[in-house]
Amino acid sequence: MSIQKPKGTQDLLPGVVEKWQYIEEKARDVCRRFNYREIRTPIFEHTELFQRGVGETTDIVEKEMYTFQDKGDRSMSLRPEGTAGVVRAYVENKLYGEPDVNKLYYIGPMFRYEQPQAGRYRQFHQFGIEAIGSVDPSLDAEVIALGYLFYKEIGLKDVRVEINSVGNPACRTVYRDELRKFFAPVKEKLCKDCQSRYDRNPMRILDCKKDQEYGVGAPSILDYLDEECSTHFAKVQRHLTDMGIAFVVNPRMVRGLDYYTHTAFEYKAAGIGAIDTISGGGRYNGLVGTIGGGGVDQPGVGFGLGLERVLLVLEAQGVDVPGVRPLDVYVIGMGEAAENEAAKLLFELRSAGLTAEKDYLSRKMKAQMKSADRFSARYTAIIGEDELARGSVTLKSMATGEQEEVPLASVAETVKAKLDR
Ligand code: HAM
Repeated sequence: MSIQKPKGTQDLLPGVVEKWQYIEEKARDVCRRFNYREIRTPIFEHTELFQRGVGETTDIVEKEMYTFQDKGDRSMSLRPEGTAGVVRAYVENKLYGEPDVNKLYYIGPMFRYEQPQAGRYRQFHQFGIEAIGSVDPSLDAEVIALGYLFYKEIGLKDVRVEINSVGNPACRTVYRDELRKFFAPVKEKLCKDCQSRYDRNPMRILDCKKDQEYGVGAPSILDYLDEECSTHFAKVQRHLTDMGIAFVVNPRMVRGLDYYTHTAFEYKAAGIGAIDTISGGGRYNGLVGTIGGGGVDQPGVGFGLGLERVLLVLEAQGVDVPGVRPLDVYVIGMGEAAENEAAKLLFELRSAGLTAEKDYLSRKMKAQMKSADRFSARYTAIIGEDELARGSVTLKSMATGEQEEVPLASVAETVKAKLDR
């Protein structure tokens, strides 16, 4: 039997990959405007980074990591998310020494051993941003605004922004106790996962699809925020309102990673089966300190946005993403001498900045014209025996069928003028 791709992975083939390139280019373009700069970190890291960074009791670290011993007997893991690696790089490269807030973005594959379904894969891709070095609530709002603008500019409709404050560790401790009191009478009825969450992190029970009914009437975190947390949260909302970004406060939103403090947010949209969260993020004020081992501490805020989910929602909404671009010129040479000339012309056209192609299978004229159509060529440049003798080509517009004879030396120039380049 032939070998197949691992479960939960995808081959992104030509035809689809151009859509990815378009979306990635849009992400880079939005980041440029917001003055975020790209960072590329390793795809695998020491397992301990994620244990410490993402949190030992999260589903991601407990159940979903691709962990292996390398040949030097070190425990390594494929990155399940981007924040921990970026923060590690920030500390290791002492980026905190720079005078400005570090505003970074990344695009790349992440790995989680999850049960695959629509919108959930074992290898998926995130476009993420991390802004490290400021507690300013306008930065939380900027991060939310960047994701919002990205979705808007690629044509995604009806994206809802939900925000919450998960407070700081002090208010969370009080709130968790209250939640335990609330859930105590129904503890035995909760699902297995939530029974263990009860002790470790009862806030996650609010997030559980199976136990929704038991969460009705649960206390709200917003009633337990201290002065600093509620002021921060109010300011974030004010900035979003000022920018005209509609949002809903969802006090039950609990993100699945341990590092969040203050602002947590999610973008939601319909169109991917059971999943309606298309991405999310938040503030993480203790993470740099945790990963840096106490030497440095800097606040941060960011998001991670799944690219597969972008494409799925775009498709569900019938939004057309620009795909393969038409070819500028398809060159046809009939007979050996003309074919040699065609190969030479091809290189000239490409050097001049045009996209150009020819036949490599010695096919007849008709078959070559079909290829030109398949590549949506704007022009064909035909070199037959007569043209060869005159040192020219017949340039044919595929849209109008119009033909003209052009000297070989000026084909590139002529095509560029016609294409307005
Ligand atoms: P997360 O919520 O775990 O957050 O993941 C962010 C996004 O990655 C999800 O909303 C989804 O779009 C995508 N995603 C996650 N798992 C999968 C999967 N198995 N298949 C397809 N897409 C998936 C984080 O990863 C945080 N690092 C976000 C962040 C950055 N917070 C602050 N900075």
